[in-house]
Amino acid sequence: MRHLIDPLDFTREETDRLLTLAEQILANPADYAHACDGKILATLFYEPSTRTRLSFESAMMRLGGKVLGFSSAGSSSASKGESVADTIRMISGYADIAAMRHFKEGAPYVAARYSKIPVINAGDGGHQHPTQTLADMLTIRRKRGQISGVTIGLCGDLKFGRTVHSLIKSLVRYEDVNFVLISPEELRVPSYILKEVIEPSGHSWREVRDMEEVMPQLDILYMTRVQRERFFNEEDYVRLKDSYVLTKEKLDLGKKDLAVLHPLPRVNEIAPEVDDDPRAMYFEQARGGVFVRMALILTLLGLAPGVLDAE
Ligand code: CP
Repeated sequence: MRHLIDPLDFTREETDRLLTLAEQILANPADYAHACDGKILATLFYEPSTRTRLSFESAMMRLGGKVLGFSSAGSSSASKGESVADTIRMISGYADIAAMRHFKEGAPYVAARYSKIPVINAGDGGHQHPTQTLADMLTIRRKRGQISGVTIGLCGDLKFGRTVHSLIKSLVRYEDVNFVLISPEELRVPSYILKEVIEPSGHSWREVRDMEEVMPQLDILYMTRVQRERFFNEEDYVRLKDSYVLTKEKLDLGKKDLAVLHPLPRVNEIAPEVDDDPRAMYFEQARGGVFVRMALILTLLGLAPGVLDAE
């Protein structure tokens, strides 16, 4: 049995095949409408979500399966002190596959250790968000035809932004990727990502403060929200929250075929005037999240032969 807790739980080849399956589903959704008849997905969300939880639920429903779950720790027996280990033991008897979001880093990993069904990390604290990465990579691949050779600017809260950490971990496995890390000093990428992921990969990277200065060089601009819920004090959040606001004027410094991505939700970091620009791809990126999650559910349930390497 396989789980997806960290992006590296799948090889690059497995990830590529999963993205190809997502593209096939996107092109012919009717072919998959009954692929999960009789199967149940549990969505165990201890932290708020709109896109991830609802796209998982939409994915399972579009595959013909059913969904159960909870959308906050407060509405589950976690509020009475039940552990993640005990919860997943129960859920293993109620569902065939589970997606878990948790405010504590490592909670989905613990769940996977005690689970009898595949567990998917739907975001753990400031750590990883591997299914968002699948949606990000699908968007990049559909836009450019490939992932290799991309110059990507990651902008905003690179310290707490788990989507950034997972995306970097995945992108280093492709050829000729150039990272431009755009953030205030206080919100730089954690040193373990730099030292253990980017530097050993040999890819070029640099840290900059100014977005405008690097805009003309980017193929992808990956904007992120400053993660208010992970700050220790409100004062620091207020000081940093509007560090970057992408306006139409700034966007026009970029290439004509630039793609602007954002895992969403956005707060102020992309002005609504950007939404109508063809380079704004974040809503399409969120829509793609349904198809990558359909592909992932099929894969982990053993219903997509050929995606995962033989054990
Ligand atoms: N991108 C993302 O994780 O959004 P939600 O928090 O709404 O799930």
